[in-house]
Amino acid sequence: MFEAKPDIQGRAEIEVLVNTFYDRVRGDAVLGFIFDKLAQTNWTTHLPKMYAFWETVLFRSGGFTGNPLAAHARLVPLTDMGRDKFDHWLGLFRATVDDLFAGEKADHIKRCAEDMANVIYSKINAVPDPRFDPANLTPEQRERYARYKASATA
Ligand code: HEM
Repeated sequence: MFEAKPDIQGRAEIEVLVNTFYDRVRGDAVLGFIFDKLAQTNWTTHLPKMYAFWETVLFRSGGFTGNPLAAHARLVPLTDMGRDKFDHWLGLFRATVDDLFAGEKADHIKRCAEDMANVIYSKINAVPDPRFDPANLTPEQRERYARYKASATA
């Protein structure tokens, strides 16, 4: 019989998601070594940090106070942190969410991960964020952007 998957309700589901995701990351040929060899991640502290991170993103509680940009920028001299890696990370994240949960929060956490992957990728590699491609702006946004550029360079 078809059984509907639950949505992410709070901390308990976030812990299940994070634990399952990083179990897969550690076993993953593309990503595992970055944590276990390059960053030498302390999983006893990293996992609770990620519970707090996602609880803060999804429910505005959880009290995350880290610095995701700095954490990833320090990986750039150690390995290629290119678009393929982020797409692979996102593929694994989406698949983990979909294996466990379904619903509004499950959709939302995938969108947040996509947004954050774009921001982290573009900032640490100093390439423009694809969401801010001027070609995608409406005429009104383009005008506002032009005014902002003029004032920023004045
Ligand atoms: C190629 C993709 C990615 C790789 C290889 C990667 C790898 C890492 C590594 C090695 C750390 C440090 C762990 C430690 O403390 O040892 C880290 C921290 C972290 N990552 Fe990622 N990451 C990726 C993408 C993302 C994305 C897309 C997000 C957000 C949706 C994210 C969120 C975080 C957060 C919140 C931390 C903790 C930051 C802190 O310590 O303050 N990561 N990541």
